[in-house]
Amino acid sequence: MKIVISIVLYLTCIFLKSESISRDDFPEGFTFGTASSAYQFEGAVDEGNKGLSIWDAFIKLPGRIVDFSNANTAVDQYHRFKSDIDLMKDLGMDAYRFSISWSRIFQMEQEFQIQKESRVQPYATLYHWDLPLVLQETYGGFLNNQIVKDFEHYAVTCFKAFGDRVKHWITFNEPRGFAIEGYDLGIQAPGRCSIVGHLLCKEGKSSVEPYIVAHNILLSHAAAYHSYHRNFKESQGGQVGITLDAKWYEPMSDCDEDRDAASRAIDFSLGWFLDPLLLGNYPLSMQKLVAERLPEINPQVSEVLNGSLDFLGINHYTTLYARNDRTRFRKLILQDASSDSAVITSAYRHGVAIGERAASLWLRIVPWGIRKLARYIKEKYGNPVVIITENGMDDRSHISLKRALNDHKRIDFHRDYLSNLSAAIRQDNCDVRGYFAWSLLDNWEWNMGYTVRFGLYYVDFKNNLTRIPKSSVQWFKDILGSNTDTNHRTSLL
Ligand SMILES: *[C@@H]1O[C@H](CO)[C@@H](O)[C@H](O)[C@H]1NC(C)=O
Ligand SMILES: *[C@@H]1O[C@H](CO)[C@@H](O)[C@H](O)[C@H]1NC(C)=O
Ligand SMILES: *[C@@H]1O[C@H](CO)[C@@H](O)[C@H](O)[C@H]1NC(C)=O
Repeated sequence: MKIVISIVLYLTCIFLKSESISRDDFPEGFTFGTASSAYQFEGAVDEGNKGLSIWDAFIKLPGRIVDFSNANTAVDQYHRFKSDIDLMKDLGMDAYRFSISWSRIFQMEQEFQIQKESRVQPYATLYHWDLPLVLQETYGGFLNNQIVKDFEHYAVTCFKAFGDRVKHWITFNEPRGFAIEGYDLGIQAPGRCSIVGHLLCKEGKSSVEPYIVAHNILLSHAAAYHSYHRNFKESQGGQVGITLDAKWYEPMSDCDEDRDAASRAIDFSLGWFLDPLLLGNYPLSMQKLVAERLPEINPQVSEVLNGSLDFLGINHYTTLYARNDRTRFRKLILQDASSDSAVITSAYRHGVAIGERAASLWLRIVPWGIRKLARYIKEKYGNPVVIITENGMDDRSHISLKRALNDHKRIDFHRDYLSNLSAAIRQDNCDVRGYFAWSLLDNWEWNMGYTVRFGLYYVDFKNNLTRIPKSSVQWFKDILGSNTDTNHRTSLL
């Protein structure tokens, strides 16, 4: 009997827990969506008059993609966007965040039309890592200040063509990730680095190039922002923001050196871009530690950058512990950029993990981190408008179909991150306006290829890329459809 009661209690708890979040826990007008990027989803790399991008070149280098795959077909959204948008509508999603491929902008017409008809609002990213190869080859892409004019021209082309329909523009996706992975570690396009001499990358200078690239990205962003506000804002009434990747860093201990380390870790990731955009200069810790390798922001540049943001997109997945790096041993050996912050991060404290792991090594599940991050942004930057432009978790690709579809871990993930986000809004007064799950579909995860699955829908790569709903699809339908129906929840209590 006791056992039976325990089981019933346990099941009730699970049931109550999974019913414990809904649209009602968010303010009126809060936007729910899913997120994607062109290169990871579209496929059709040589159709529709598309030019080559730096990723088309990068994937041909030996050993860079763990499963030797490419994104030539990806999940074929180029041909299937109509039915994929139907899936979003069916989920009850309000919006879709996708990126425009700079090497192929015109096919978008049709996709926008369908989004308009289905009332899934477009949130368009202009640059999600796929620079036209010709710009890399002719002048070095983001290493050259010439990119600022070219990016502005590209942005204006998009504002003109699609601005009547797109009201949320994201200039760049994860510039930190692009600068570090592409120019310090060399593990993503364009694959430049010097951390192990020129063994891994033919060219590059890890300790210098990421900072130049980041600086030119900031200038490109601001140029597009001001162009929009000068020439389009009045007639189109949209908003221009940027999406930054931000982990939360928790001090390893209570002592000052670890607190400072955690704060530096945030400066060198979020602050690297957000301080110039909202406070007018790079963080002091970066100015001090990177010194003459950090490009200068003089008063004129500061004026251009400062305040050039209508909203802040945040891609948040995980939280790590941070402690002071006393020896700077890594810096000595690698001469890289990543160790400039003098921080060592870890998922463990006294042998205890900060959270359970998803499939990716870097992805620890730490739902309370999103609330601390939101509070930090509010307090440090004067409560800017924030949209969570990515959040989600992955499973390994090789598990059985049955296990993949029964994704309760993913449901718990979204439930706990969302309830902490709701608390940040409701209790801490953080101005967060939207949440995009990464991702609608399993897709091509850059250098991880097809080895991990982040989708709400399973993609059967062996059977014509068929989309099959995982359990999280029904869960999202329930929480998104429950707008007015609160009786259901209270009756359970
Ligand atoms: C940047 O803008 C903010 C808000 O307007 C202002 O408080 C700050 O002083 C500016 N920073 C600089 C360096 O001018
Ligand atoms: C926040 O996340 C923690 C786990 O990290 C979870 O226990 C808690 O229920 C979540 N919700 C709120 C409102 O804190
Ligand atoms: C694969 O799926 C697409 C989209 O649903 C469909 O148009 C096509 O006919 C399918 N191909 C095969 C070989 O079944």
